[in-house]
Amino acid sequence: MAATPQRVEPALTDKGYVPVYATGVIEQPWSSYSANDHEVWATLFARQRQILPGRACQAFLTAQDAMGMTPGAIPKFDELNRALRAATGWELVGVEGLLPELTFFEHLAARRFPVTWWIRRPEQLDYLAEPDLFHDLFGHVPLLMNPVFADYMQAYGQGGVKAHAIGADALQCLTRLYWYTVEFGLIREAGALRIYGSGIVSSKGESIHCLESAAPNRIGFELERVMRTRYRIDTYQKTYFVIDDFAQLFEATRPDFTPIYAALAQQSSIPAGDVLEGDRVYQRGSGEGWAGDGDV
Ligand code: PHE
Ligand code: CO
Repeated sequence: MAATPQRVEPALTDKGYVPVYATGVIEQPWSSYSANDHEVWATLFARQRQILPGRACQAFLTAQDAMGMTPGAIPKFDELNRALRAATGWELVGVEGLLPELTFFEHLAARRFPVTWWIRRPEQLDYLAEPDLFHDLFGHVPLLMNPVFADYMQAYGQGGVKAHAIGADALQCLTRLYWYTVEFGLIREAGALRIYGSGIVSSKGESIHCLESAAPNRIGFELERVMRTRYRIDTYQKTYFVIDDFAQLFEATRPDFTPIYAALAQQSSIPAGDVLEGDRVYQRGSGEGWAGDGDV
């Protein structure tokens, strides 16, 4: 049983240099978690649950409770899986960390969500560059209890396998879609904007920034607009895209992307902070504090 993550090699991706880990599925080494590890989970869990009511969408909060995630201890994947299988047929599988793209897509297409087994260290509470157990489990897993979102994630995996065969430009479009929905998406609810993106709900600073700061743009979701938009990996997002509901997201992504990828390959990408004519603008960002370059 591995007590430390097994890195395979660093790889240059569209997210910069990231460690790519062993691709195999592993049993969650639950009994190897230290008191410190459980403490990190408890601290982050309590901190996020204090700020997320009224900020995260209700589906996220309700599902997290329904699955039985609590601050008490790092959840056991097996126990979460009982709730998840019953609700939507998804299951969690333990992994060492970020997977090669095709392997990741194949898991999603089979309704398996890879979860990093290890948790960040106490000095990394506010930021770490790669996904850990807190990001994956707290951030991504609850919405897999939602039937529409669960189907979207599987369709995304199937689309990923297809895009991987088409080529790098197609994959880039799909990665931007994931980034601006699954990781950093906002949703309209009860006449206000709420968070559903995992990258936001697992970050205290961005949970507040994305809704309350005057700096970022908040723009209505439009598929091709999103697929053309570059993004930030080292700062808060300059732009957040807002869906009306999960059904809108599922319907917008139902068409065959093959001709869309071909058409978009002829068009230029859009800088992360730009607002275009035709955008449905909820808020035009002030741009305060934005770094001038560094969009990926
Ligand atoms: N409809 C997309 C395709 O044909 C698949 C997909 C669905 C991609 C949902 C992303 C999200 O490739
Ligand atoms: Co993530």
